[in-house]
Amino acid sequence: MRTVAIINQKGGCGKTTVAINLASALAAENKKTLLVDIDPQGHCAVGLAVPEEQIEQSIYDVLISSRRGEPVKPTEILWEIGDNFELAPASIDLAAFEQQTNGVTDRENCLKDVLKTVEQDFDYVVVDCPPAVGILTFNAIRASTDVIVPVETGYFSLHGLSRQLDTLSVLCKQCSQHINVMVLASMYDIRTKMGREILADLRKHFSGRMFQTVVNFNTKLKEAASLGQPICEYDPASRGHKDFQCLAQELIATDTMVEPKQIASAIQKTEPQTQIVEKSQDRKEIVKNFDDKLDAISSSAQELMASLNEPQPKTRAKIMRDIDGRLNDFYGTRQFGGAVKFVTLYPRARSVQIAGDFNNWQPQQTTMKPAQDGKWELALTLAPGKYRYRMVVDGQWQQDPYNEQVEMNPFGEFNSVLEVK
Ligand SMILES: Nc1ncnc2c1ncn2[C@@H]1O[C@H](COP(=O)(O)OP(=O)(O)OP(=O)(O)O)[C@@H](O)[C@H]1O
Ligand SMILES: [Mg+2]
Repeated sequence: MRTVAIINQKGGCGKTTVAINLASALAAENKKTLLVDIDPQGHCAVGLAVPEEQIEQSIYDVLISSRRGEPVKPTEILWEIGDNFELAPASIDLAAFEQQTNGVTDRENCLKDVLKTVEQDFDYVVVDCPPAVGILTFNAIRASTDVIVPVETGYFSLHGLSRQLDTLSVLCKQCSQHINVMVLASMYDIRTKMGREILADLRKHFSGRMFQTVVNFNTKLKEAASLGQPICEYDPASRGHKDFQCLAQELIATDTMVEPKQIASAIQKTEPQTQIVEKSQDRKEIVKNFDDKLDAISSSAQELMASLNEPQPKTRAKIMRDIDGRLNDFYGTRQFGGAVKFVTLYPRARSVQIAGDFNNWQPQQTTMKPAQDGKWELALTLAPGKYRYRMVVDGQWQQDPYNEQVEMNPFGEFNSVLEVK
């Protein structure tokens, strides 16, 4: 069984789109596939038309009970999506996983242990991760044989990439299994010169650590998600579908290169007396191999950034225009002088408000304004100080998914924390 985690701490770079459509394309290639959503936002269920209100138990229940007396089996929470294709949905409770497992030993291995119990049932597990690095993403890394980092082909995504890969490198160095990390160019718009230049740079710098397949920007993918269908059902003739078919085939083509089985069989072939020594040597080599690979990817990202920071005179103006155009392309909170801008992404929400100690927890006074592509924005003037707030999405109170600074509130939930300087 190959476990592929889709990771990028940048919000909205296409993780869930990749996770859903890669999983369904693998299933179409006759691979028994499980899609596991570990993002508290629960977008996989939304994107596959699984009714949220009817999800009684989610991956949260499976993970949290895995360290208790009566574990909930993964099979108890699965939703059949299609032939060879099942979903383990997430729920908002996952946002409390980190806090609830405080002090629990080995909590970073919950997902790994859970997936071991279904090892015989699936060929592939695809894990959709939240846009944050925390214990949930670390669980995904510990459980994985492969990590796919989707990268938007835009200037700001490259900025994030270098930092992201550094973090990933630190996390992966703490693992004892081999992980194959690959960059995937996503939301590629061939019509823009900027897109083409950045893809060429990515290819030059990441070469063997990048998928040949590129996921093009394709509005059919957006439409498919909003109708709760994978692209292979919604529009099999679309470019989006072809891209994911190619991606699945490219991944499957490397099946024989995946180590765990080979290593396991190599270890079994050794004499019992030498087994332990061989095993630890193997492991050391694997970890070193992986470290080298990550270091190389990470320094490639830095080199790439450096080359973009010194653009050719011809492209500088274009890059600056792109930067201007994308200045608002961030999610979370950012301070501009005395104002704080909140930006979040809820493509399917009808209303998004903010309630915090700065407005007496009255969300009606601070309704966010819908912007393009499911974005919501609001600028507030706040005096310097520390504030706590929550997002109110269609009446549901939740923590800001793009702010890693949180504090527990008296109701056992998390408030997001903001410091205005
Ligand atoms: N290749 C693509 N072409 C067109 N639209 C896309 C593509 N990939 C993603 N999108 C759209 O971009 C938005 C963000 O994508 P998605 O939800 O997959 O990102 P994400 O990284 O999972 O976000 P988050 O970090 O919030 O989990 C969605 O509206 C999605 O439909
Ligand atoms: Mg997502």
